[in-house]
Amino acid sequence: MPEHEAEEHARPVVTRRDFIAGAGVGVAATAIVAGGVTVATRQGVQTVPAPQPVAQTGAGGAVVAPAPAPGVAAQPQAVAQPAAPAAGALPQHMRRVTLDIDGAQHNVVVDVRESLWTTTSQKLGLNVTNLGCDRAQCGACTVVIDGRAVNGCSVFSARLGRGQKILTIAGIQTSPTTEGLHPIQRAFWMQGGFQCGICTRGFIMSSYALLQTNNNPTRAQIAEALSGNICRCGEYPKIYEAVESAATELRNPPVKPQAVLGPPPKRTGSPSTMDFQFANPLGSDEFIGEVDGALKLLDGVEGVSGNSSTAKVTYWPNEVSEDAIRKQFADSGYPVK
Ligand code: FES
Ligand code: FES
Repeated sequence: MPEHEAEEHARPVVTRRDFIAGAGVGVAATAIVAGGVTVATRQGVQTVPAPQPVAQTGAGGAVVAPAPAPGVAAQPQAVAQPAAPAAGALPQHMRRVTLDIDGAQHNVVVDVRESLWTTTSQKLGLNVTNLGCDRAQCGACTVVIDGRAVNGCSVFSARLGRGQKILTIAGIQTSPTTEGLHPIQRAFWMQGGFQCGICTRGFIMSSYALLQTNNNPTRAQIAEALSGNICRCGEYPKIYEAVESAATELRNPPVKPQAVLGPPPKRTGSPSTMDFQFANPLGSDEFIGEVDGALKLLDGVEGVSGNSSTAKVTYWPNEVSEDAIRKQFADSGYPVK
């Protein structure tokens, strides 16, 4: 077997997650071989001389015990054991923290090497971020901490217990229904700014951080703000369009029609129908139900049917005008041509 292949096979596999979670210590320990220590490096495996036995440490530094004379058996050394933590105290590598996630306080004991993604997903059972690369390169795990987009895989939970506000994708919507979606979430959905969806939560949270401080970004500013996020499906054009669409809605929030109490107007004759073409086709025919709900908020509109490209509106012409219907489409986030 060629030498470089032999090195590949001999190299211990120590992932970053193993390492920061502590398993790396065990892997490294089992890699200790007689006469040396096997160390994983970018180049391969190196063998370094075994360390000299250390008898004691003190203010003067480590003192190396003399090697036993040839033929003389080494005497066992008394090894000082670390003091056991007092009852109720945590081991040195653990911390008790209170994490403010989406406005809820979570008391949790974390390892000082534990990432926020690990804590939220594996300890708290919150399905609020995705994990992609696990090394701060893809942005799939992005959350917003005190207004800044941060990779959840690469920040330590132990450092987030000082009142920092951690905002996840679950914290930006107002209700679990589609009506409760944040304008950015709705824009990604309506513009089709995703394919497999692995990256989407991260893109939305990075967009959220951008639009909090700039609700009218240029395409270049959007690209810059999202440069820490990778979409392997290559949906960048749609993603950028979704951010622009969300920015437009955030600048011009739809005004909810006021409800007017009183008897309904007396209706005579039959309602009319009119077809409208969506400026931005819906993601699917089934979303016409959402449009129906939004348009029926306008007095005089009986209902909407149709498909992803065309809306057929049934309305009472003596109660509502075509212009008012077009405005209601636009205000609801479904502009028509
Ligand atoms: S999973 Fe955190 S940046 Fe990729
Ligand atoms: S939609 Fe698949 S990675 Fe972005």
